[in-house]
Amino acid sequence: MKKNNNLKVAIVMGSQSDYKTMKLAEKVLKNIGVTYETKIISAHRTPKRMYEFAVSANKNNIGVIIAGAGGSAHLPGMISALTNLPVLGVPIESKKLKGLDSLLSIAQMPKGIPVGTLAIGEDGAINAALLAASIIANNNFKVKKKLKNWRLAQTKTVKKRPK
Ligand code: RP5
Repeated sequence: MKKNNNLKVAIVMGSQSDYKTMKLAEKVLKNIGVTYETKIISAHRTPKRMYEFAVSANKNNIGVIIAGAGGSAHLPGMISALTNLPVLGVPIESKKLKGLDSLLSIAQMPKGIPVGTLAIGEDGAINAALLAASIIANNNFKVKKKLKNWRLAQTKTVKKRPK
């Protein structure tokens, strides 16, 4: 199989209301120099859009999918059912249950169709982007280098003593 060095990350989310969380994933990917595209795709409100996106993701040069969803958060699992690409799920903090519903929906996928589940909310969105960048870095030296530098910069921000 030919090696593809220019794979992108797709960031998808169930609703416009998820964007305040998911835009943090965009910020991280931008910082590390990973190409990405962002879309609103709802498993229950726009099922055809979800299907078309998932079945054509591979041929559209996508290497990793980050899917944010809240409540009965079936979007990451449904997308994973339609593609062999790695899917990372970000549980969005919901109003009533603070994202515990989203977390359990995404994490408790029955065997056979995996979704890599991150933390609830902003931490999850940021870590999903970092994890997606690590996956892309396997075949992309520039991203590998930038990711390494990102971590070094983070380490440098940690002071030795509290004040
Ligand atoms: C889910 O329902 C979305 O991912 C969102 O987190 C949640 C609420 O959506 P809105 O009612 O704000 O559009 O599908």
